[in-house]
Amino acid sequence: MAIGDHRKVIAVANPAALANAAAERVIARIAANPGRIAICLTGGSSPKALYQLLATEAYRGRIPWDRVHWFIGDERFVPAGDPLNNMNMARNAFLDECAPKPNVHPIPTDTASPDDPDKSAELYEHELKSFYGADELDASHPLFDLVLMGVGPDGHTASLFPNYPALDEAKRWVVGVPKAHVEPFVPRVTLTLPALASCREMLFEVAGSEKRAILTRVFAGENLPANRAQSLGETIWLVDQAALPEHFRG
Ligand code: 6PG
Repeated sequence: MAIGDHRKVIAVANPAALANAAAERVIARIAANPGRIAICLTGGSSPKALYQLLATEAYRGRIPWDRVHWFIGDERFVPAGDPLNNMNMARNAFLDECAPKPNVHPIPTDTASPDDPDKSAELYEHELKSFYGADELDASHPLFDLVLMGVGPDGHTASLFPNYPALDEAKRWVVGVPKAHVEPFVPRVTLTLPALASCREMLFEVAGSEKRAILTRVFAGENLPANRAQSLGETIWLVDQAALPEHFRG
């Protein structure tokens, strides 16, 4: 199914099928690149089952862990070990068990001053640029092989909230967001639209009936952050039946 532009919607039965389909796409992206691979993870609850799946016997052996680098698209400005910390969730779900430590690239919320998500954003932007090997993004050389995304009840994605200035950032790769629009109400650090777009594939994972209302608005083309987030390569929306808007069913 297409949603009005080059984006593609793939419907699956339920959250378990969603995690399986997402894991297969992760594997396919990894298999397509014989060199160094960069994957940008997301927070929230939606990707947890996928992360746990990657640590299972069925998937673990299919990933060349030494060649894969793991980044995070946005972070809640809380200490690294805090249960709200997005990278902490990913670490607990699979990274600590499977990935070499130097290949895990968290947004440094501990080293920055506690009130300064901008400082943290600056440090992460620097880290991304060193990894990428240039200060400017080149469309023919994407920063990430794969960017995972979720969508919030207000249509936000990463920590790009509706009508926030971060949405229009065209130059910076990472910015601080002093105040979140939805829970948890902690400051955030987020990659910007141009940095997130610099990927071979952007993969949204959406499940559950509580997501159907916002997905209906997104697929209707409303001006929402989740609509503005698109890859320069492929953009895929993996959606389970419960979240699928009415006219996409059947
Ligand atoms: C965060 C996120 C955020 C998330 C969506 C969906 O830090 O909260 O990265 O953008 O992906 O809010 O969250 P759920 O998966 O929990 O619904």
